[in-house]
Amino acid sequence: MAEKFVAKVSEFNDGDRRIVFVGDNEIGVFRHDGEFFAYSNFCLHQGGPACEGLTIAKVEERLRPDKTSAGLYFSKDEMHFVCPWHGMEYDMKTGECVSDRKLRLKKYKILQKGDDVYVVA
Ligand code: FES
Repeated sequence: MAEKFVAKVSEFNDGDRRIVFVGDNEIGVFRHDGEFFAYSNFCLHQGGPACEGLTIAKVEERLRPDKTSAGLYFSKDEMHFVCPWHGMEYDMKTGECVSDRKLRLKKYKILQKGDDVYVVA
């Protein structure tokens, strides 16, 4: 296992991402709500750059008691990132494909040493 420097914490703002290479592994590192998440940048659909597209909150439909729609809302709890090739969405906190939670991107460990962030691969 190798530790690869990603960025300084002080230069990696919430909502930012970095793409790093460790050997043959291409890894997307996100900062979301103060936490770091690292996943394979190889989309499970057709190998697109899964970590390089939009980040967007989960869209939820709220229902009234009679089951009619009260509208669509952005989740306050669940953030997704979207593969730019065909739109497959992944859960930021787990790497699961949100349309089929049995599928998930390979997750990598993050280390913080002082102001430095590393990914372990
Ligand atoms: S390659 Fe990622 S959605 Fe198709």
